[in-house]
Amino acid sequence: MNKIYGAEVSGVGKCLPKKILTNQDLTKFVDTSDEWITTRTGIKQRHMVDDDESVSQMASEAAEQALEMAGVGAEEVDLIICGTFTADFKLPSAACLIQDRIGASKAGAFDINSACTGFIHSLVTGAQYIKSGAYRHVLVIGADVCSRMLNWEDRATCVLFGDGASAVLLSQNENPKVGVQSHFTRTDGGGMRSLWIYAGGSNRPIDEEVLEKKLHYVQMSGSDVFKFAIQAISDSANRVMEQEGLVDSDIRLMVPHQANQRIIQAAAKKLNIPDEQVYINIDRYGNTVGASVGLALFDAYEEKRLASGDKVLVVGFGAGLSWGATVINWSLS
Ligand code: ACO
Repeated sequence: MNKIYGAEVSGVGKCLPKKILTNQDLTKFVDTSDEWITTRTGIKQRHMVDDDESVSQMASEAAEQALEMAGVGAEEVDLIICGTFTADFKLPSAACLIQDRIGASKAGAFDINSACTGFIHSLVTGAQYIKSGAYRHVLVIGADVCSRMLNWEDRATCVLFGDGASAVLLSQNENPKVGVQSHFTRTDGGGMRSLWIYAGGSNRPIDEEVLEKKLHYVQMSGSDVFKFAIQAISDSANRVMEQEGLVDSDIRLMVPHQANQRIIQAAAKKLNIPDEQVYINIDRYGNTVGASVGLALFDAYEEKRLASGDKVLVVGFGAGLSWGATVINWSLS
């Protein structure tokens, strides 16, 4: 039987745009209030790119930070995977631009487009390359510029999202019990209309009617996604805990995708995981889609909520509809 390696998290990084848009700022151009946004979502502010900032720029800065923490040079990276639905260009992928920016001269690179499940998909995909022994260092990045995909006249969506990037470096470890463990992923494409961008793809190229009706922006059925999300978190979390032989009290920290504080708290309650073992930073960033899980991992680590030996339950869900989870045996101290 082939040897299985550990896919260890050896470094983490993040990058956020300089500009901050508070709930109060939003009330100047959209019919909303700080009270509505805070009580319905937990969001207080979000970051937004300026003209000199982009997915590949933020992603590269986050990646360089993760490499520096791990003490690994860009030329040692074997593969770059970027979870994003807002790559700088339609072609090529954001991962290609990141490869060039950071000088990862020996790396392959590709994007994974699965919105808010993008970080989980990228993480478990990257882990497979390491566990199999194929690669030693894989950069897993989540990055999105949501602000350019929103209809700023639609208060039901524009208040929810933010821009940012996060990265983890996965490195080969002789011990398979270190790092990313078993995973669970599922998709229900029948729910594609619950959260989608109708135009701008090959089905409906952009024309004057698209621009006039703003069909090239995010559209969402909030209540459908809300119900789906609570079920998706508890379903995928239960599956990976079962696969790993873990119970709720074994989990040091649940790090979920940050879409809505109420969704996270309702799912944690279903899972019997107490609030203090659930990481939430949505108040600072809003829903940063591909970046969100990595940003939460970064902040939890920086705030010393994670230590070597901890079992971290990482969960994502979003457009597709899609959802997934994995357990990380954390080893950074
Ligand atoms: N400010 C003030 N009022 C608002 C706003 C706003 N920004 N947005 C909607 N409202 C109003 C509505 O018009 C409605 O008014 P009405 O009763 O007069 O018709 C009222 O508030 C209630 O609207 P609901 O949509 O029922 O509000 P709800 O409590 O469901 O909260 C929300 C809406 C926050 C969007 C919630 O449904 C949600 O979080 N859903 C999940 C969204 C999500 O997680 N999306 C990301 C998924 S991940 C990915 O892949 C991108």
